[in-house]
Parts: sequence; structure tokens; C-alpha cells
Amino acid sequence: MGIYKDLIEKKKSISVIGLGYVGLPLALEFAKKYKVIGFDINQARVDMMKNAIDPSNELDSSAFDEADIEFTANAEDLKKANFHIIGVPTDIDSHKVPNLTPLKLASKSVGAALKKGDYVVYESTVYPGCTEEDCVPILEEASGLKMGDDFKIGYSPERINPGDKERTLTKILKIVSGCDEESAKEIESVYSSIIEAGIYVAPTIKVAEAAKVIENTQRDINISLMNELSMIFDRMGIDTKEVLKAAGTKWNFLNFFPGLVGGHCIGVDPYYLVHKSKTLGYDPQVILSGRRINDGMPAFIAKRLIQMLIQRNKSPQDSKVLVMGVTFKEDVTDIRNSKVVDVIRELMDYSINVHVVDPHASPNEVAHEYKLTMTENIGDDYDAVIVAVAHEEYRNLGHDYFKSISTKDPILMDLKGIYEPSQNGLLYWRL
Ligand SMILES: NC(=O)c1ccc[n+]([C@@H]2O[C@H](COP(=O)([O-])OP(=O)(O)OC[C@H]3O[C@@H](n4cnc5c(N)ncnc54)[C@H](O)[C@@H]3O)[C@@H](O)[C@H]2O)c1
Repeated sequence: MGIYKDLIEKKKSISVIGLGYVGLPLALEFAKKYKVIGFDINQARVDMMKNAIDPSNELDSSAFDEADIEFTANAEDLKKANFHIIGVPTDIDSHKVPNLTPLKLASKSVGAALKKGDYVVYESTVYPGCTEEDCVPILEEASGLKMGDDFKIGYSPERINPGDKERTLTKILKIVSGCDEESAKEIESVYSSIIEAGIYVAPTIKVAEAAKVIENTQRDINISLMNELSMIFDRMGIDTKEVLKAAGTKWNFLNFFPGLVGGHCIGVDPYYLVHKSKTLGYDPQVILSGRRINDGMPAFIAKRLIQMLIQRNKSPQDSKVLVMGVTFKEDVTDIRNSKVVDVIRELMDYSINVHVVDPHASPNEVAHEYKLTMTENIGDDYDAVIVAVAHEEYRNLGHDYFKSISTKDPILMDLKGIYEPSQNGLLYWRL
């Protein structure tokens, strides 16, 4: 008898380890049909979830309704579960090297709770080989059990898109994989019971790991090409958005736009592939050049603003600039790895007086994470306004609004290209 049957009949339980953007929606979805243990090391977050509050602000409290779930910060509780899903962060350190500490600690916690017949499925984004080469030895050591004989493993990458209310967990096709045919089938059955969009069974764990990491790497490189084009066309005085609109009329032209690449996925995951590739003696060229271009955009944007201020006879050190939006993307509260902050720091290095507002970001988090104080009230004497994030609240603002909060001869930098060029004295610039 397979584990799926025992789980669906509630004879056995699922545990989800790491209840963030990925783990919590998954745990709650499973908890509609299965008995679930939701484990996180952060007691404050666990307390919030016990009160039906999503600490990541993605789900409303109704998502917790009728969920058969026990939230806990006690790793001992993992012993009550038999199918463990790990969704802890996989970020990079200051040298852009994968930080596997949370993944290894989570593997240790699960390993200590493992019993014969259990399953462990990893969802965290990693490089190909990480699950089998880095995590399995920890599971085996902590449990004293043997992978394959005593317990099984799998890998199922997560594709959720924060802030996206349409493509939610159950509506995104999910890749699964197992360490053998039987485990792949069992894992497929478990996931297909909650994922409406369907399941793709990858032939091996490494294929599934690689598929995830290249999805984001491809996106990063495509955006970097748009960013490079934007820097070239800016020198030529050509509007990149118009070029892309024209080129986009060809059937096979890809739909990408220039912009800041922040957050904890697209700007991070390519470094996982780079790291693994380097350990195998190949130094990636295209992937790293894309990263360099995308990471260089804040400096480019700041330099262009300085040029425009000087062209308008405004000295940078006497200028006041409003930055609208500080989260890493539109309509989310997440400020992690926001490249808007790099733009702000560049401007501050030029002694510009920068004000920052964002209807979604928490001023406390911004102060804590970046030592930046957000502005409570928007003034009426800005020399330039940078709309850095396409939040819904900003999309319908008109040029008159920007003029109303600015001094004479104002500049509007529209980093997301959400407005059209101005005819009324506003110096409009977009990537
Ligand atoms: N956020 C996304 O949109 C997204 C999309 C696809 C893939 N991913 C990947 O999913 C993984 C998780 O990302 P996230 O955005 O959900 O992270 P997150 O930071 O939102 O949440 C991670 C949670 O794990 C907890 N945690 C950390 N170490 C732990 C441990 N040892 N044991 C138990 N809990 C622990 C943290 O307290 C936190 O609550 C990462 O690998 C990420 O790359 C994220």
C-alpha cells in the first residue's frame, strides 16, 4: 500500500517545513484534504499563523478556514508526520554564493524525525544535484536510515508568483520527481490531489532541479538583453518601449521589458547554477553577463537622473527627489533584495535629498532592513520623481499629479514604463 492512500485516508500526515511565501499556501492547500503539521523555526510567525494571519501578507484569513493543520515551532512535532515537504529559503551570501544553511538545518530537523517508509520532498530552489548530494547525506546521518531502502525522496519546484491573484498555487502546472519510479508515482498522486493545472513528472530529481533554476535564469537573461538595449537606445534618443512595441509585431519576438531585477528568485537563482557550474570547471559567460547588466541598472538610472538634473540647471546636492515604490515588484509587500534601494543609495551618494514612499512596504521593515526612513507625507517641491514600482495605486496617476508635487521644470523617471511621454513641460524619461 502506498503512502498516498494512507495520507488521503488521514492515517498518516504531511508536514511542511518553512512557512513563507511557498510553504504556507502549500500547507493550507494540503490541509483542505490531509492532516498537516506546519513547522517553522520562527515562533513569532507561527503565533501569527495560529491566529489565521499570513505573515507574508499574501493570503487573507479565510485561507485558514477549515484547514486541518497544526502550526508549530517545535521540531519534535515533525515525528507525527510521514510525508515531509521542505520549502525553506535558499538565498545567496554577500559573495553571491548559495547559502544552504537553512536547507541543511531543515534537513537535519526532518532527518531527526524520519521513520521507515517516510518521504521527503524538497521544494526550495537549488542547483541540480543539491537534493541528492547535499541534503540526502544529512537526512541519512540524522536518521540513521538509508535513502531508497528506508525512506524516499523527491523534488518538486515551486512556481508561484507573489502578488499574482490569478495564477495561484493550484492553477500552476507542477513538476514533480522522485528517487525511483514508485516514489515519483506516489509524489505525483499526492500533488495531483491539490493541483488543478496538472502534474509533469520529470524523469529524475536533477532534471526537476535544473528545470526550475533555468526558468528564472532564462528570464534574467532576457530582461538583461532588454536592459542593454535600453542603455544603447537611450544614447541614440530612441524610445525603447516603442522599439519593443514595433518589434513585438513579429510572431517570434519575445515579450520582455527592461527593468530592475530584484527579489529573492530571478536575481538569485542564476547564481545557484553558476556556483554548480564553476565547481565542475565551467565558468558561465552568458548567465553572468546578464547578471552584471541587471545589477548595474541602479547605477545607470542614478547617472541618468544626475545628467537630467544638470541639464535643467539643478545641482544634485540641492535637489529633492521622490522615489515612489520600494518593494521588489508591484502590488507586494516584500522588500527583500529590492533594487530600488540600490537606486536610492546611488542617489544619496550624489548628496541628493531622497524621499521614499510606498503604499505596500512597511516603514519599520524598510528601516530595519535598509536603515532608510520612509516619508509619511508627499511634499510639493520635488525636482524629480522616480516611479520605481508599478503598484496599482500609481498606474492611473497623470502628469498633472506629478507637476503638482514638483518644482519648476520637473523630471519624471518612469522605470516601469507605465505612463506616456509628456507634452506639458515635464521632462519624461523611461527605460
Ligand atoms: N517566494 C516565491 O515566490 C518563490 C517562488 C518559487 C520558489 N521559491 C523558493 O522557495 C523557497 C522558499 O522561499 P520563500 O519565498 O517561501 O521563503 P520565505 O523567506 O518567505 O519563507 C521561508 C520560511 O522558512 C522558515 N525557515 C527558515 N529556516 C528554517 C528551518 N531550518 N526550518 C524551518 N523553517 C525555516 C522561515 O522562518 C520562513 O518563515 C526558496 O528556495 C525560494 O527560492 C520562492
